[in-house]
Amino acid sequence: MVINPLDRLSALNNIARKRGLYWPSYEIYGGVAGFYDYGPIGVSIKNKIMHLWRMFFVEKQRGLVVEIETPIITPREVLKASGHEEHFTDPYTYCKKCGNVYRVDHLIKEALGINVEGYSLDKLWEIMKENNLRCPKCGGELSKPENALLLFKTTIGPYRGAPAYFRPETAQGIFVSFKNVHLAARERFPLGIAQVGRVGRNEISPRQGMIRLREFTIMEVEFFFDPEEPLENFISEIKSNDLEEYLDTVLRIIPAYMRERGEEKVVEVTAREAIEKELVETPWLAYWMSVGTRFLEFLGIPSDKIRFIEKLPHEKAHYAAQTFDQEVYTEKYGWIEVAGYAYRTNYDLSRHIKYTHADLTVFKRYKQPIKRKQKVVTPNIMALKRDYPEKFPDIMKKLSSYEKEELLSLLENQGYIEINGVKITRKYFIIKEKEQYIHGEKIIPHVVEPSFGLERIFYAVLENSLKITDKRTWLGIKPWIAPYDAAVFPLVSGSKKEHKQIEELAKKIYYMLLEAGITAIYDSDGSIGRRYARADEIGIPVAITVDYQSLKDNTVTIRDRDTQKQLRVNLRDLYDSILQRIKPYKPWSAVLEKYLTLQ
Ligand code: GLY
Repeated sequence: MVINPLDRLSALNNIARKRGLYWPSYEIYGGVAGFYDYGPIGVSIKNKIMHLWRMFFVEKQRGLVVEIETPIITPREVLKASGHEEHFTDPYTYCKKCGNVYRVDHLIKEALGINVEGYSLDKLWEIMKENNLRCPKCGGELSKPENALLLFKTTIGPYRGAPAYFRPETAQGIFVSFKNVHLAARERFPLGIAQVGRVGRNEISPRQGMIRLREFTIMEVEFFFDPEEPLENFISEIKSNDLEEYLDTVLRIIPAYMRERGEEKVVEVTAREAIEKELVETPWLAYWMSVGTRFLEFLGIPSDKIRFIEKLPHEKAHYAAQTFDQEVYTEKYGWIEVAGYAYRTNYDLSRHIKYTHADLTVFKRYKQPIKRKQKVVTPNIMALKRDYPEKFPDIMKKLSSYEKEELLSLLENQGYIEINGVKITRKYFIIKEKEQYIHGEKIIPHVVEPSFGLERIFYAVLENSLKITDKRTWLGIKPWIAPYDAAVFPLVSGSKKEHKQIEELAKKIYYMLLEAGITAIYDSDGSIGRRYARADEIGIPVAITVDYQSLKDNTVTIRDRDTQKQLRVNLRDLYDSILQRIKPYKPWSAVLEKYLTLQ
């Protein structure tokens, strides 16, 4: 039987509310657009998706990636340096009659069906006028578009506090701490730094439920590497870490050159081919796109419902040289972006260096030292002490925070360096040319960033897992992201005494499972059919039924959620039987076989 998509979506909404997956926040106050709560079942699924993301992007990356956690509240200076204060905006218009506010690109998309993401304000205004766009709610006249800053503002300190923002991405916390993490990771390079956490984006009138939120969870890796590294170094890094299989993943890409020609056609290439055909500006982009594809497939998203769209120049964020959006197909919203893969070059680190003079470089050692004449700059201490006796300690302290190359370049190009409002001119420095052996150079690493929106993945997974037949409805979610591993049901039968004994044994089994690390629920309410139905609706993969026979021979039945098949197992084998079905890891025997031939 074919189920109407609208019925599927309303079934999902019903389950979401009835069984505690998610709902709009602050409902008793009328609700606030762009905020959603996870219910008890939803939070468990969300945590498991997050855990699996860590497994793919951190744990399985053989030390290439480490994870950190940095604050949500970000001083204004940081987001000024990153360019967010200037560029993190969306165009809005409001109705001069009813006051309703709209995001202009969304309004045009809905009214005219054209994608105008990244268009200038003038161009948008032209399109609005040409097509006589009016307020969709009351038909009133719309204002000329303006840019709205999407950062949530706050202050650090309650009274006359310093201006700050709720972070719009976790990336900036990673960039500003890059040096500390690099040192803590024993200067490993290339190096990925991951972070999972809440971010805030003050969206203009969001109206798409869980997929356009003002506060949500981001899971991202900033992967720092040397763009000058030849391709063979990339390949050997991958090979030596046993990660080569990621080069074989098939990526479904709509490249920018095709979009420019008006062809929205998917090209299917392996990650290796994407590198060879130069569809990606750095091999690391293809690598992370491969990891992301495997991650989504592991969550149960079918591969034909995953694709990458390369962004056109005017659609890219201010920091990106090349970007691919990873999209997943949903019945409710069509293709939605669940992740972005951006080649951020050294934009962010360079900007933070410019604003703070901090050393955010890594030392790249040459294979052979090179003999080279080099200019060396040193402050003339005597002259500085003589002419700036009081400011001398401050001047020296500030000078020591400058990179030698930066100091040299400022003195040669600008002729002075400004410290606390005082211009210290070139004459206070000695610049000499010396012949030296150069062992390496400091480079500002480039960055590739895979960045995932957790709530969108959560929604896409739920929608894609929902199964409806004319007989039943169940969440066919992958067992490793189900809210519970198992449900335990005592079956009511026999005398009152036997009934009590069955319940006691079922409770014991429930406690035993919990003690052995299997998450479980115990349910003795209502008919067994209703209990199965409740467990199925939230996707519990295994239901264990304890019955009269269990009292006699220590066996229970295990029911599979998807096939509804039942199997009788001895209590001794119960744990292994459940484990086999729910764990996202390969069994040890398969792993041994892959890596070793044991005598
Ligand atoms: N850090 C990725 C983003 O802000 O979308």
